[in-house]
Amino acid sequence: MKDEGRKISMITCYDYSSARAVADSNIDCILVGDSLAMTMHGYATTLSATTPMMSLHTAAVAKGAPAKFIVADLPFLSYRKGLKDAMDAVHELMAAGAHAVKLEGVRGHAEIVRHIVDSGVPVMGHLGLTPQSVHALGGMKVQARTKAAVRALASQARELEEAGCFAIVLECVPSQVAREVTDLLRIPTIGIGAGPYVSGQVLVYQDLLGLNPGFEPRFLRVYANTFEIIRTALNAYDNDVKSGAFPSASESYKDPDLIEEGVTKPTEHARENGQGSRITITSEMNQ
Ligand code: KIV
Repeated sequence: MKDEGRKISMITCYDYSSARAVADSNIDCILVGDSLAMTMHGYATTLSATTPMMSLHTAAVAKGAPAKFIVADLPFLSYRKGLKDAMDAVHELMAAGAHAVKLEGVRGHAEIVRHIVDSGVPVMGHLGLTPQSVHALGGMKVQARTKAAVRALASQARELEEAGCFAIVLECVPSQVAREVTDLLRIPTIGIGAGPYVSGQVLVYQDLLGLNPGFEPRFLRVYANTFEIIRTALNAYDNDVKSGAFPSASESYKDPDLIEEGVTKPTEHARENGQGSRITITSEMNQ
């Protein structure tokens, strides 16, 4: 797509029902990001993500969006404890349904990147603001704001490309810096807070859908106020329960002697979703 001048869209996704929505969209690819430690588990940073946590979420996403390209994050320190531990983590994520893994930085683990790539696993790099290094960076700050930092970023990007990465996430760097790095590389760059001159964009699902009220970084565009929609629906349900408006007669099962025979059949939706989905299993509850 980079070669053809077409932009790549990527979204994070962490669970089965959200993956079904992404599967039904035009978005090109999914990142099961370690930001799930924050968005799904309420931790303050991504440092609390673990390989079992990442693989559980990856498996759920793979079931919900089986036709999308799925990249899963290698969590904090999982690729910094030696080759065997790194490959065990890669194995777990790939067995859970990922098609590629992503890892942050390159200093001290270029050999590991090369080994993962040589093992047949596509690797995505991640430079700029690397949240797993939040404490070393002194917080979640825009990176590459000095000439020396720009030079370091460019050389790390080249190193990742040479190690065999198929793409690199650039997080929170100035637009012109991202453009320079993108022009330097043959592989695509996927930006988040990196301006428009990159090969594609990634946003966190919850942020894009307004499910994270109060989180308002400069780079974010909120496409729907889903938090408000959900709260309104929950309050409508609460009202209906308390007023007795829910459930109505049509939402209640008929008395046993009124049931007609031979009316049970799967819904259209259940057929579209194939075997084993909750919709298929519960289709008889529609009658
Ligand atoms: O974990 C994540 O969500 C990410 C994106 C911000 C790129 O790494």
